[in-house]
Amino acid sequence: MSQKKGFFQGIHARFLERNSLILTVAILVVVSIGGVIEIAPLFYLNSTIEEVDGMRPYTPLELAGRQIYVREGCYNCHSQMVRPLRDEVERYGHYSLAAESMYDRPFQWGSKRTGPDLARVGGKYSDEWHRDHLIDPQSVVPESVMPPYAFLADAALDYGQIEGHLRTNRLFGVPYSDEMITNAAADLAAQVDPFSSGYDDLIARYPGAQIRDFDGNPDEITELDALIAYLQVLGTMVDFSTYEAEAPENQR
Ligand code: HEC
Repeated sequence: MSQKKGFFQGIHARFLERNSLILTVAILVVVSIGGVIEIAPLFYLNSTIEEVDGMRPYTPLELAGRQIYVREGCYNCHSQMVRPLRDEVERYGHYSLAAESMYDRPFQWGSKRTGPDLARVGGKYSDEWHRDHLIDPQSVVPESVMPPYAFLADAALDYGQIEGHLRTNRLFGVPYSDEMITNAAADLAAQVDPFSSGYDDLIARYPGAQIRDFDGNPDEITELDALIAYLQVLGTMVDFSTYEAEAPENQR
């Protein structure tokens, strides 16, 4: 071994290691270089979320259904994020895009999968299947450990606060217009009634909205209507037959 100490080794032993305060400052400097390299570029991008065609804010009914999903803690067993791994993409479909949860306040990515990921469950089953499944999961999937939510079918949806709900989302950046907020309650009712006079307005405000009686009970707007409307829109806003990722060639 060489007897001669290198320059840095010299400073290290003589100066830094004998002086804890200066050592701490030196550690902070070194660590923050890494932090700056990671974080600084984000300030120079206009957006870290790629814009994608088809994304629109949730309709009032879907938003109310989402609220029930959160209230019932469905996220304790279900994630909403398909990761870009082969097994996931083959099972659930195209991996989730950041843009697909840009109107989610709070996001529902989740970290626990007792049940399957739900990010692309929209359109996978009929409304009747969801109805049977939510009322009694074992009636359609005998080995299911999912608890029943039969009470949702009998619970009238309380949407007295829906305007405020949209307004609060707007406060956090969801682009609800004044018109959408004023008409929130009417739009909510119109979405469960295919014969309603509000049909065209609803579609104009929320392109592609699915309009029908989701819970099979036309007499009442129930919590089940809202929850199924929400489940049926999940992962369906972006049309993946026309979508092209902005990734470099080697990452496609
Ligand atoms: C205790 C964990 C648990 C909770 C809580 C739970 N689920 Fe599930 N869920 C499961 C399991 C396990 C499955 C797979 C078996 C089945 O289909 O029932 C499942 C399946 C599903 C499916 C079918 C997914 C597919 O692709 O086949 C949907 C939709 C669903 N759950 C919705 C919900 C909703 C909505 C809630 C909240 C109201 C909820 N779950 C709460 C465990 C749970």
